Amino acid sequence: MADPVVTGVSRKAPAWSLFVLWLFSAGAMATLPRGHAIASAHPLATEAGRLVIEAGGNAFDAAVAVSAALAVVEPYGSGLGGGGFWLLHRASDRHEVMIDGRERAPAAATADMYLDANGQVINGASIDGVLAAGIPGAPAALVHIAEHYGRLPLAVSLQPAIILARDGFPVDEAYRRMAEWRLAALRASPAAAAQFLVGGDVPPAGHRLRQPDLAKTLEAIASAGMRAFYEGEIARHLVDGVRAHGGIWTLEDLRDYRVVERAPVELRLQGKRLVSASLPSSGGVLLAQMLMMLDARGTAGLGVADRTHLLVEVMRRAYADRARYLGDSDHVHVPLARVLSRGRAQRRAQQIDMARATPSTREALAVGEGQDTSHFSILDREGNRVAATLSVNYPFGSGFVAAGTGVLLNDEMDDFSARPGSANVYGLVGNDANAIAPGKRMLSSMSPTFYEHGDVVTILGTPGGSRIISQVLLGLLDADSGLPLSELVAKGRFHHQYLPDRIDVEPGALDESVLAELQRRGHTIRRLEQPYGNMQAVRWDRRSGAVDAAADPRGIGQAVLFHTEIGRAGSVQGR
Ligand code: GLY
Repeated sequence: MADPVVTGVSRKAPAWSLFVLWLFSAGAMATLPRGHAIASAHPLATEAGRLVIEAGGNAFDAAVAVSAALAVVEPYGSGLGGGGFWLLHRASDRHEVMIDGRERAPAAATADMYLDANGQVINGASIDGVLAAGIPGAPAALVHIAEHYGRLPLAVSLQPAIILARDGFPVDEAYRRMAEWRLAALRASPAAAAQFLVGGDVPPAGHRLRQPDLAKTLEAIASAGMRAFYEGEIARHLVDGVRAHGGIWTLEDLRDYRVVERAPVELRLQGKRLVSASLPSSGGVLLAQMLMMLDARGTAGLGVADRTHLLVEVMRRAYADRARYLGDSDHVHVPLARVLSRGRAQRRAQQIDMARATPSTREALAVGEGQDTSHFSILDREGNRVAATLSVNYPFGSGFVAAGTGVLLNDEMDDFSARPGSANVYGLVGNDANAIAPGKRMLSSMSPTFYEHGDVVTILGTPGGSRIISQVLLGLLDADSGLPLSELVAKGRFHHQYLPDRIDVEPGALDESVLAELQRRGHTIRRLEQPYGNMQAVRWDRRSGAVDAAADPRGIGQAVLFHTEIGRAGSVQGR
């Protein structure tokens, strides 16, 4: 059995080893993709990416365009007032990096800011309104990607989003569902109500939603870059708006925000290669752990009940580590070498009793959902790849818009652990490692991922809060078995996150006989009434050059394949 290689902090290698790696990797003999591919959660965002590639951009320019367009047409999922992780692979030198545009806690944040006088978590304080908002990272990330990896000026890559914000887009049913769910929070902010509601109510389907303030903010970023958002008039509007409503942001919080380039988590295992999000996302760490445990146990020949039981036990153990050890490693010590050790993964895998569920309490001693957040995947004809998962956290974030900006603020502060052991909105518990501290980034589950299995590269990710990581794991295993991409994104899902100690099962995902067998082994089953997740995936067969793309049928997203030559200069016109 080949030794896995796991990295997650820094990946410095002598130049000769990179050369040897290049010579012998499948990529050295790859057939370039036969077309460009984009899959995103909204057809207008996919279209924005296509327009920018047709204007001469590469996958990174398209990522800027898609991210900005999503901020306009899918404001419940992500936006300029939020953050995210953009995983990039540059084909020319195989450079791989995670652009960390995650929100940060403001400098005045304190560990107990969401607790009452009795030390109890105040209901909703980290979810609704200005106190829930971290300092946004998305605008800085878009500017960084454009300046360091793109080919086009921001004036071109942001143009589709500017047009969509200025001229409007037709409200769809997904928007209406999410706005209905967050109606109270949106009504509480006059600027949000003016931007997202009509007469204080959810707009009817087909209503053309125009966001002129957001268009102006995007235009300012297009012409002046990062400073336009983090300093000057927009920054003042943001801080004034937040503070007028009882928030704690300062101009310095915005001025000091920085994007961080981080080495992704990488795992090589049995001819496969995982590249995924590193801390402050828990995604890559947990995926690497789960794949190592599965490798140690082996899944070949297992029936559905045995396979599901094994996957659930592996998820339980990985999510237990998330709760116990993980946080922003720039602020706390995270024992990554231990958490990612192969020996430990093997020992934990051997502890799994195939006849009985392990109670989560014992395991811990021993060692709205799914339409918030957004993911897109892009491959261009040069082989450049982007997997990006972006968020404002809960649908429509905090529900707060600072007047004059058009920027809907996130409620990502809820991803911190407000109190050790107290569950957040996704039921996730955390520990001191993920306690609130000034300038710290809250632990995330967002897992933009590249997965290489032989010659086949899959680019994937999904929204879904705590269920993001388990969805990506199931997607990787389906990629291993060669499932067609359209079936991979559509397949039924199940999830376990250590606590609460139960398996969440999508409608129809598992047969009744399998559910009965899992219950017999001691598992608690929660049958979900609604599906979850919205996976967007792209696949490239490096041997043949064939490309595929698929959008999850649970959402309204769109995947496109197209053949424009790359590198042709031009400008973008809305269609
Ligand atoms: N806000 C969801 C996440 O980052 O995991």
